[in-house]
Amino acid sequence: MRTELLELVMCPHCHASLAVQGEIEDGHVWQGALVCQGCGVRYGVDNGIPHLYVDDERWAPKAREAQGWIDFHKDKGIYDQTGVDIDFILPYYDQEPWISVAQHFDVALDLMALDGSEKVLDLGAARTWAAKHFALRDCNTVALDIVADDQIGLGRGWALMQEAGVEYHLVVGDSENLPLQPDTFDFVFAAAVLHHTSDLPLLLRNVYRVLKPGGALIAANEPCIPVATDSEQALERDAAEELAYGINESRPNLFDYWSALDGAGFVDLDIFPVQAYRLSDVQLEAWSLEMSVVASPLGRTPVQRWPHVIAGCLRRWRDLWGKPNPLPPARSRREALNRAILLHRGGGICLLAHKPIETTPAKLHPDKVG
Ligand SMILES: C[S@@+](CC[C@H](N)C(=O)[O-])C[C@H]1O[C@@H](n2cnc3c(N)ncnc32)[C@H](O)[C@@H]1O
Ligand SMILES: [Zn+2]
Repeated sequence: MRTELLELVMCPHCHASLAVQGEIEDGHVWQGALVCQGCGVRYGVDNGIPHLYVDDERWAPKAREAQGWIDFHKDKGIYDQTGVDIDFILPYYDQEPWISVAQHFDVALDLMALDGSEKVLDLGAARTWAAKHFALRDCNTVALDIVADDQIGLGRGWALMQEAGVEYHLVVGDSENLPLQPDTFDFVFAAAVLHHTSDLPLLLRNVYRVLKPGGALIAANEPCIPVATDSEQALERDAAEELAYGINESRPNLFDYWSALDGAGFVDLDIFPVQAYRLSDVQLEAWSLEMSVVASPLGRTPVQRWPHVIAGCLRRWRDLWGKPNPLPPARSRREALNRAILLHRGGGICLLAHKPIETTPAKLHPDKVG
C-alpha cells in the first residue's frame, strides 16, 4: 500500500485514523500493520494489502464466502492465472459473461463521465479490472473486496497495475462495514456486487456514508427479478451452486432496490434494464409493448392483438396486487417504461443513485427532528 491511503481509510472498529507500523519503502508498505490511533487494534498488511476488518461473527460469513470464491474457481479449472492474462483485457473479452459485463461497464463509464479529478471506490473489485480502467482515466482509485487472493482476488491487482502502468489502492474489507473515511468518494462503482450482500440496506448506508455530498453510486450488472417471482425460488434456480460454496447470494426486485436506496438517503434514483440505455424513446416503447408490460391504447391496437393486450393487463394487475409500492410517480415516460419492464419481466440492471449535495438532518437523524 502507498502511505497516501492513510488519508482514505479508518479503523472499522472505532472509526479512528490508522498509522503505519513497519518499514516504508519508497512510500510503500509491503509487510507490517496499520494500528488504530483510537482503540489500538492492529490490522495486518500483507503483500502490500491492508486487511481492514475485525475478525468477529460479522466477518465469519465473509471469510466463508472468500474461501468459497477460491474453491469455486479451482473446481471449475479457472483459478490459476499464470500465462492466461485474459484479465488484462477485461471486461472487453469476446465471450459471455464478459460481453454482457462490458455492455454494463460502458454504460457506467458513460454515466460517470470521468475527467480524472475524481476519487472512485471499486466495491467488490475482485481482480480489479474496473479499478484499473478508472486509474487509466487518472482517478484516485481504491479497490476493495473480501478476497485477498493473488489469482482471483485483490492480489491479482499488482499484475494488472504493472501491465497497465498505473497505480491504485487495494484494501481487504467488508462493504457492510466499510473501513473508509466519510464524505470521501465522488463515485462508488459496484459490478455484480449488491446481490452478494445479505443486508442490502446496511451496505447502502455504508456506501452513502463514504460518498461525498453530490457523489453517486453506480451499480452495474445486478439481477432484478420480477415482483411476482419468489426470491427463494429464484435463488434455487439461479444460484444453488454458489450458495453451496458459501457465497452469499440474494435476488432483489425493483421494490427491494428502491426502498433500500431511499431508506439510506439516496436521491435522484435511476434504475433501468441495461439494454434500455441505448434505445430511442420509440424503440423503448416498442420493446415494452412487445413484452406486454405496458398497455397500448386499445384504439390504436389491431383487433387481433386485443386478447394479447387484455392478457397483459391481467398479468400486470396480478403481479402488483396487494404489494406495497415504494416507488414515487415516474418522472418521465422512459422511467415508467423501464419500471414496467423490471417489475413484470426483470432483467440485468444498471442503477444510479446520488447522495444529496445538502444532506438533510431529517434523513440522517430522523429521531432528532421535530
Ligand atoms: C460476482 S463478483 C464481481 C466481481 C467484479 N466486480 C466483477 O464484476 O468482475 C462479486 C464480488 O463481490 C465481492 N464481495 C462479496 N461480498 C462482499 C463484501 N461484503 N464486501 C466486499 N466485497 C464483497 C466478492 O468477493 C466478489 O469478488
Ligand atoms: Zn479503532
